[in-house]
Amino acid sequence: MPSILITGANRGLGFGLLKLYVDDGWRVYGCCRNPESAAELNAITDASNGALTLHRVDVEDDASIEALKTEIKGQPLDLLLIVAGYYGKVIMTEPGGLQEFGTSDYDDWGKILRVNIMGPMKMAEALVDNVAASDRKQLVAVSSVIGSVGDNTIGNLYAYRSSKAGLNAVMKSMSVNLKDRGITALPLHPGWVRTDMGGPAADLDPQTSVDGMKKVLDGLTPADAGRFLDYTGAELPW
Ligand SMILES: NC(=O)c1ccc[n+]([C@@H]2O[C@H](COP(=O)([O-])OP(=O)(O)OC[C@H]3O[C@@H](n4cnc5c(N)ncnc54)[C@H](OP(=O)(O)O)[C@@H]3O)[C@@H](O)[C@H]2O)c1
Repeated sequence: MPSILITGANRGLGFGLLKLYVDDGWRVYGCCRNPESAAELNAITDASNGALTLHRVDVEDDASIEALKTEIKGQPLDLLLIVAGYYGKVIMTEPGGLQEFGTSDYDDWGKILRVNIMGPMKMAEALVDNVAASDRKQLVAVSSVIGSVGDNTIGNLYAYRSSKAGLNAVMKSMSVNLKDRGITALPLHPGWVRTDMGGPAADLDPQTSVDGMKKVLDGLTPADAGRFLDYTGAELPW
């Protein structure tokens, strides 16, 4: 039975992905900040006969990552899927949410960088041995086309854009450095999706996005290391 660890598993895209992997018969480690208050996740856990376990992880909290590392020491992870992310205090489609020049909130920007860049890096550093011990050896972070420098024609979104550009750089480096251990690392764009973060005006319903991402993830090969793909499998510009 292949195994996956998912961060941000309590809502949005992380929750949708978790359900797909549970239904597909994988061993699933679901991580979120407050598992005790995630009612739907707990119901799925109870019905899973041990295939799904929940783990408290706040990617800004090093101690929680260290505790997770201890909890799952020695367990192979075929796919480490880092989904947890933070846009900023105000989502893109709400007034003041475009993160325009002259409006920067540096405290919030710091949090965005910690969650979106350092969080995935810390998770990867903590769990790389688990990934290396698996059959598939895949390490994927949900990024965003907003982090593409080549695709940036509208400007704005300074804080979130810089965080996903940084995440892309981090995943590209991992794809190089972890190749010798047989690990396939890459960033994956989910599309613009109607979640709490994407807002109601987004292009895609969550099911279309998670179904697409799972299909792409199921089809990954080592040749995909260091590519920037979207939920349809298309390659995006850096
Ligand atoms: N929706 C889109 O259109 C879109 C487009 C491109 C990329 N993305 C990316 O896709 C990923 C998932 O987004 P989404 O749309 O599902 O967003 P969402 O509905 O806002 O969910 C965000 C998830 O991240 C978790 N999270 C936030 N800060 C965390 C932290 N410090 N530690 C652990 N978990 C944390 C949240 O947990 P809590 O419930 O505890 O806050 C929640 O589970 C993100 O990386 C996002 O940047 C989304």
